[in-house]
Amino acid sequence: MEKNMNALLEQMTLDEKIAQLVQLATFFYKGAAGDGEITGPMADLGIDQDVVINSGSVLGASGANEVRNIQKEHLAENRLGIPLLIMADIVHGFKTIFPVPLAIGCSWDMELAEKSAEIAAKEAAVSGVHVSFAPMVDLVRDPRWGRVMESTGEDPYLNSLFARAFVRGFQGNDLTNDQHRVAACVKHFAAYGAPEGGRDYNTVNMSERQLRESYLPAYKAALDEGCEMVMTAFNTVDGIPATGNKKLMRDLLRDEWGFDGVLISDWGAVKEQIFHGVAADERESALKSIVAGVDIEMMTSCYPKHLKELVESGEVSEEIIDESVLRILALKEKLGLFENPYRGADEELENQVIMSEEHRKASRELAAKSCVLLKNEGVLPLQKEQKVALVGPFAKSGDILGPWSWHGSKEEAVQLHEGFKMKMDATNLTIAEGSDIETVTEEQVQEAMKAAKEADVIVLALGERSSMSGEACCRADIRLPEAQIQLISKLKELQKPMVAVLFNGRPLDLHGVIDQVDAVLEAWYPGTEGGAAVADLLFGDVNPSGKLTMSFPFSVGQIPVYYNSFNTGRPNRPDAPNHYVSKYLDIPNEPLLPFGFGLSYTNFTYSEMTLTQTIITPNEPITVSVKVTNAGDTAGEEIVQLYIHDISGEIVRPLKELKGYSKVWLQPGETKEIFFTITEEQLRYYHSDLQFTSDNGEFHVMIGPNSKELSALTFELAK
Ligand code: NOJ
Repeated sequence: MEKNMNALLEQMTLDEKIAQLVQLATFFYKGAAGDGEITGPMADLGIDQDVVINSGSVLGASGANEVRNIQKEHLAENRLGIPLLIMADIVHGFKTIFPVPLAIGCSWDMELAEKSAEIAAKEAAVSGVHVSFAPMVDLVRDPRWGRVMESTGEDPYLNSLFARAFVRGFQGNDLTNDQHRVAACVKHFAAYGAPEGGRDYNTVNMSERQLRESYLPAYKAALDEGCEMVMTAFNTVDGIPATGNKKLMRDLLRDEWGFDGVLISDWGAVKEQIFHGVAADERESALKSIVAGVDIEMMTSCYPKHLKELVESGEVSEEIIDESVLRILALKEKLGLFENPYRGADEELENQVIMSEEHRKASRELAAKSCVLLKNEGVLPLQKEQKVALVGPFAKSGDILGPWSWHGSKEEAVQLHEGFKMKMDATNLTIAEGSDIETVTEEQVQEAMKAAKEADVIVLALGERSSMSGEACCRADIRLPEAQIQLISKLKELQKPMVAVLFNGRPLDLHGVIDQVDAVLEAWYPGTEGGAAVADLLFGDVNPSGKLTMSFPFSVGQIPVYYNSFNTGRPNRPDAPNHYVSKYLDIPNEPLLPFGFGLSYTNFTYSEMTLTQTIITPNEPITVSVKVTNAGDTAGEEIVQLYIHDISGEIVRPLKELKGYSKVWLQPGETKEIFFTITEEQLRYYHSDLQFTSDNGEFHVMIGPNSKELSALTFELAK
């Protein structure tokens, strides 16, 4: 394979090579829907037709017909017949939309996560896509940031498992022959999830130690799973924008981790180095990015405009360009594009596969597993013969797909009222809008009050419009919009049982909601089958099992608040009250709802936690076990969680670190013993010299239903 590509490279002119490193959006290409528009954006970017003809990849094309046309026109003009790579953001589904990744995180279900990516890959591949810009594995601790819904949460261990599952789902194990898979592109390297103040694109400031310990593992996990591509982050890492950060990209990603796949910039990020203030002009931007090892420049034109002169002046060696071109050609070869440039694109299959019954079923199953029951004071599940008033802006809304679902169709999403009608007699159901997302009128309230008057129970369908999260959609106030809080308090006057179902993209400050109603179900953006999945849960056909993978803050003033934090030198101890401790005067230190939290319709009890031995050595792992009983009268699934705390380390260690979990299905009255193995390897962490080792001494091992309600035992590491 390498030989062929080298031979091809030898035939390429420098201009042709540089153009391979250019990625442009669909509208530049002949054959694209709406073609003819090309002069406008081309003029803006200052590139000529030759660059388009020789470019290496396209962003955002899909649809078998369109992709085939683009590729055909391209091959007719491209001198060496080098096919285009077609890339797109297939983040949580292509047309069959799955829950947003933060919701998928709450399922703790790697098999279904993998399945969701496999289905997304299949729908995208028959539609002509070759590469998905996913998974996004940025660790997140700040719910003000609009993009938290794209991540699986605040835990490096869990994020790493999900990163692997998504990569497996997208890529399968034979990209060359399995034309229904796509190459994955893990993003955003690195630490994009830690912008100061939760404001998108903002500065990221952290030590290398912390970067390695918390933020890098999930990217590394994706690469260990064979992820073909990496996308740079928009932010700075230690003062240098990631997209021109040689230490991060060439030294760490390429040399230390051995990544030899394609590295692409995020949209416009090469040129943005000028605004960051590390490049005087586009020429210097191009220089910094190519030297850092960025192969493809997405949607700016620093490479096509300046790389040639940089090579001619000797500032960039042609070998560097050749390396990048070879990586891109190798990916094309791996995807089989030289044999079949149209790859999976198939209009007939598009009709059969996209939004098939099977795909919708998988989406419904994962959506039900992703919702988290946050409160339930005896009101859920609903009884099918109850009179229900369904009130709120999400009662009849298709805006439940989430912000990264541009191929998804809101019209085809199952709305909540439709889900209700699958479960109950429509004559017992009254529906009212109650309010808009951010405004409410007296008429809306009156209509809602009327609808609720005869009801046995009021179900409030509330949340954030999907455009209130996602890229560049950050909020400083993360409460539900005031209009909806007002609606809740109005309906409260009726003194009826109330259930809130929340559709949103971030952990919210739930004041004004959780304290006013009897039950809360966090539905996130549940995807195409959302209304059906939520109804499955509300009516008890499925028992809720999701658990939060991102803490819900008490209020915005605590942020960042996350479970794996440090103790400080002055912890706030209820058993030893003291003024001079780390605390707030007006709010608690703890989040409102901790990482790992989620209720079920049954009640699980934990007992007899036992350690096989209390001394662990590198060669002798130990086993910890616990008995879990379903003490209620409904069958259900519990996510049993294992945490470890290194009591005294060279570096301060988090109070808890998730090291394992087990999903256990229990019939009423049933007890199962759950076993976890603890190895010395799990006790390692990055020391001050950045060595990844463990320290002798005592550790706590903790097991429980969430990161707060834990039982602990002590063991010792002796090396
Ligand atoms: C910008 C986003 O940050 C990134 O996640 C996405 O893949 C690209 N745009 C391409 O759409």
